[in-house]
Amino acid sequence: MFYICSNCGFGSGSWIGKCPDCGKWNTLKEKPDFAKASSGKKGEAVKKITITSLSKIKSSTKSRLSTGIFEFDRVLGGGVVPGEVILLTGQPGIGKSTLVLQAFQKLRVLYISGEESAEQVKNRAERLSINLDNLSFSADLQIESIIQSLEELKNEIEIVIIDSVQTIYSKDIEGPVAGISQLKEVTKKIVNFAKQSNLPILLIGHINKEGDVAGPKTLEHFVDCVLEIEGEKISNFRLLRASKNRFGSTDEIGIFEMKQKGLSEVKNPLVFLETDKKLEPGKAIVGVAEGKRPFFFEIQTLCVPTSLMNPRRVVKGLDFNKVQLLLAVIRKNLNLPLDRFDVFVNVVGGVSIKSTGADLGFIASLISSFKNIALPANSLFVGEVGLLGEIRSSFLEEKIIEESKRLGFKKIYSSKLIKNVKDFAKQI
Ligand code: TYD
Ligand code: MG
Repeated sequence: MFYICSNCGFGSGSWIGKCPDCGKWNTLKEKPDFAKASSGKKGEAVKKITITSLSKIKSSTKSRLSTGIFEFDRVLGGGVVPGEVILLTGQPGIGKSTLVLQAFQKLRVLYISGEESAEQVKNRAERLSINLDNLSFSADLQIESIIQSLEELKNEIEIVIIDSVQTIYSKDIEGPVAGISQLKEVTKKIVNFAKQSNLPILLIGHINKEGDVAGPKTLEHFVDCVLEIEGEKISNFRLLRASKNRFGSTDEIGIFEMKQKGLSEVKNPLVFLETDKKLEPGKAIVGVAEGKRPFFFEIQTLCVPTSLMNPRRVVKGLDFNKVQLLLAVIRKNLNLPLDRFDVFVNVVGGVSIKSTGADLGFIASLISSFKNIALPANSLFVGEVGLLGEIRSSFLEEKIIEESKRLGFKKIYSSKLIKNVKDFAKQI
């Protein structure tokens, strides 16, 4: 006897009340013929495998579909590849539906929405001044029906948008809509269809405030490309980044500003900084390379005496483990009693920095907050910090320094100037 969780597909040899995988109660259902079904290929004959020389395989000559938004194309690696399945994630209200409507306005689009009605989608499209002739809509959400209709429609449309994948269900699965079993089945069917028809499909997936993508996270390895929109609803800037891309690099970012008439592209590398470069204690400006372009971000650190046994470490926008590591480097090299201080770190604009080139800037902001002294005016920090406290040059450092001079930064701290954090602390 075998038991399968109807929510997440977890399998167990005995019945359990609470699924150890997804934590739902009473979801394990008996599957008596499970063992039989899984050994269905037992009778298959053993034969020689087929081997083909790759030089004889015709490469696909079909070119990428350009979206017409340069920043979006850049993140995709030059446009949408035929048969590509893209997952676009982001918090509710961040601008996913807006971005896809704008990005694909030059293509013939089928927009399937379980989130909004036809009127709502039309209203948004009109507000964005999008030509409605290219845009078809459906609110039918059963994946088997969708695929059957797409088989007939596939020559009339160029891309399918599904908003959101969490609202689509398969008739073959018992679990609840948006449950993990449903999500996996739906996505597998979509991917199979896209590959065999060469029709690109974009899936929108919500993630919640904590960045916990319980649903979409499990789908990441099925799809070709995973994009995320980052940013805060209170600020107008949005950052588009690929965390996985089978047809391009994952280094490139696209920057947009949410305006009255939708998202517009931003080219200025200083967008995430406030206009005046005045520095208060705890604030540092870092230069990092995102893709092949230099960008400048503001890191804020707040260091306050703690009343707790285990001081608090709250990090937003930087990698938590990297911050822990750098705190250890500072304790060891600079003798700061950080175990008696809470440390809060934030990158302004709701964006996250993936580059290690921000290490030195974080350390600068921490020392600045700890000593309660502002860093030098017009200063910029570029550099990676190693476990031994050494300062290393970061990716595309030359280019960042060149650009920062052009933008008016006067004092640039990098591995060119200083080699370790001890000397660095004396200089700032
Ligand atoms: P939306 O694309 O609906 O977000 P998502 O699909 O990620 O949930 O965008 C929601 C926000 O964007 C909403 O708060 C209003 C704002 N917005 C603008 O500021 N300008 C516009 O032209 C549009 C269409 C939306
Ligand atoms: Mg939406």
